[in-house]
Amino acid sequence: MRALPGARWKVTCAVCAVLCIARDQCWRLAASTSALSFSCRGAPSGAPRAPRPQRRRPRGRRPKGRQTSAAPNSAAEARRCAPPAPAFIPGLVRPEAIDVGELNASGDLVLVDKTSDLEAVVRWISGGGSALVVDHWRDLERCRAAVLKPLRRSPANAQEAERCRTLKKTLSDRLLGPVADGRIDLQGAPRADFLLTLYGDLFGSGRRFALPSGVLMGLGNAWQYFEGGVRFSFLAPPVLSQPLRPFYGVYAYPHPVTHFEMLIEWLQNCSRLGPQRAPQWALDLGTGCGVVALLLRQIARIPHVVATDISPNAVYGAQEEMKRQDQDIEVVYSDLFEGLGGRRFDVVVFNPPWLPLPKPSASEPPRTVLDLGNFYSPDLFERFFDNLHHVLNPGGRAVVLFSNHATSRGYVDKHPFETALGRGASARSARSKHLQVEKVPCLAFFLGFLICRRNKKV
Ligand SMILES: C[S@@+](CC[C@H](N)C(=O)[O-])C[C@H]1O[C@@H](n2cnc3c(N)ncnc32)[C@H](O)[C@@H]1O
Repeated sequence: MRALPGARWKVTCAVCAVLCIARDQCWRLAASTSALSFSCRGAPSGAPRAPRPQRRRPRGRRPKGRQTSAAPNSAAEARRCAPPAPAFIPGLVRPEAIDVGELNASGDLVLVDKTSDLEAVVRWISGGGSALVVDHWRDLERCRAAVLKPLRRSPANAQEAERCRTLKKTLSDRLLGPVADGRIDLQGAPRADFLLTLYGDLFGSGRRFALPSGVLMGLGNAWQYFEGGVRFSFLAPPVLSQPLRPFYGVYAYPHPVTHFEMLIEWLQNCSRLGPQRAPQWALDLGTGCGVVALLLRQIARIPHVVATDISPNAVYGAQEEMKRQDQDIEVVYSDLFEGLGGRRFDVVVFNPPWLPLPKPSASEPPRTVLDLGNFYSPDLFERFFDNLHHVLNPGGRAVVLFSNHATSRGYVDKHPFETALGRGASARSARSKHLQVEKVPCLAFFLGFLICRRNKKV
């Protein structure tokens, strides 16, 4: 361990950390900050904020002026009704727990508290060292802001954005915070109760380990969303009966909203079809927090709804949500259509990720399925369009939501749907035998959806 000017050493803390972490119990699943935090597509300016924690009012005193007790405070109500974090669930994807003892032994770790010289810490981290904040959450926030400050300016193009994102992750991974007994072990730290569900097997007998600062922030945000619930309040009047409680690492925010409004209109039209034509079976592909599955049931009134996802966290979270909301919706783990056991549907809805999966980089831990909420794998759309007809009943329709984020930001030259649909003459003719890609309604010029209809006769 190296001394930094002004740092107050907490040797006992470091020794405890050495003793407390069994490395073989840490999963090797590392994931990126972006996916580990509560994910939101692109647009930082429009990104949702986690609901703010409620300030407690001192007992016995009422606020002066207009009384608000009669006004419904749905976020506070949702928070009051929030279930506790489930106990440890094996098989979920979690960021790798860091053995502080091991890091310490390598001589690459410094401890940081309020007396530390921030500039020295920034130099240390930029030079490849790691730093563990030991006292207060505020110090972690301060230090993180200082480390990431040089990366604040907006990137000029997609390549620079990717370089920035990689560097941000690399640096923020080197700034660590301690975890013990199911909580972030720093004064003033936010609640992050998913720690119990994800790392429950590592706690007990005072064990401590560390997690990167970005991961800790993501865990705190995710817990606030879970507690306060997500209401999709932009959809007016509210279309879902209850707020959703998304699980950690799950995509759960339909932003921007135009394509969602279009989807709702389309589903409302479905619900108006007569009994002969009304869809009976629907598939929500890539369900995330389960929002589309609930729309299929509550708006389109489709009696049999199946939801799938490739992320175990999404599958677990959506299953729990359906139980909580008493909805008879089956949620299954599946890579595209593979886990459906040959079932067919009248309606398939897919709200896919919009940006290409970044190329693997030597300086970054490998991507995990948690990243697939935001990023599509290279063969995703080819596999989707080539196999869609196998899961559609004759006359059945698939709605695929899209945006032109990937092209407009310069990540790809051609829209990934166009690339997948235009590929190879034989693939095209095989597909057109089964499917008609009906149209691309676009209210806003960059958003919309494709409707693929399965031919009745082949
Ligand atoms: C943009 S999110 C949409 C989530 C949700 N449907 C919504 O609208 O909020 C895309 C979802 O697709 C899932 N996904 C990505 N690749 C997949 C695949 N190959 N098979 C199944 N699901 C996939 C992701 O895990 C993620 O939950």
